Amino acid sequence: MTQVVAQRGDGGAEVVVVPGAEDLARETARRFVELAREAVDTRGRFSVALAGGSTPGDGYRLLAELPYRAQIPWQDVHLFWGDERCVPPDDPASNYRLAQQAFIEQVPIPAENVHRVLGELKPEAAARAYDLELQRYFCGPLPRLDVVFLGLGRDGHTASLFPGSPVLEETKEAVAAVRADYQGRPAWRVTLTLVAINAARQVLFLASGAEKAPIVASVLGSADGSLPAQQVCPVAGQVTWLLDRAAAAGLAGDPQRASAEG
Ligand code: 6PG
Repeated sequence: MTQVVAQRGDGGAEVVVVPGAEDLARETARRFVELAREAVDTRGRFSVALAGGSTPGDGYRLLAELPYRAQIPWQDVHLFWGDERCVPPDDPASNYRLAQQAFIEQVPIPAENVHRVLGELKPEAAARAYDLELQRYFCGPLPRLDVVFLGLGRDGHTASLFPGSPVLEETKEAVAAVRADYQGRPAWRVTLTLVAINAARQVLFLASGAEKAPIVASVLGSADGSLPAQQVCPVAGQVTWLLDRAAAAGLAGDPQRASAEG
């Protein structure tokens, strides 16, 4: 059962709340299938930037399982990443490795369709190489990804765009190397900037669990734009939040919150 609980005032973001983490994984996989088929039918290929972190893993694993696996036109799917930690591809902290093990190595996607960030290089070199890879695919400096999957950190960061980071002011470059300390994860990262994210056709935020409820409420509860996740506003695209009920617990309009407040 999927429930739309809010459409942010500016008519921008769709907020979808599902009961639990398993439902969130299914909804993630279902949307991947839907958006992939739509893009391939309309434009002949599908370009998607994957999120890192722990939240998307279960959804990615479903992509390698039926029915989803058989519904995706893998030959026309092109994988990119919203961000990557500057570690080798076989490192447990690698966002590429997460997706590789979750589904890539189990589905018939051509190797040349996997456009990973070369996390093993020095941060600036990895950022330049990734930027070139995007420019090659999109034939120009501004990538127009069909879908960008994003997570949400407890501090309101998304991809590797952290509060107070000068990269948030970037108005030209699509990719940047950044350094950030978050939960002991690798500090150096390569990230899409807001320039690239806000050029996407569709942005899908994923958040799960009670630990995310306060930041979800802050991000969706105000439009002051102080948090990086609030600065994700595609110029000509849609933002959708996929939340499980625990992560949505602080949202106005959430039935659970309504009944709790009586
Ligand atoms: C990364 C991510 C990052 C992540 C958030 C949420 O590489 O770390 O791209 O933006 O999405 O930190 O992480 P969790 O899903 O693990 O809470």
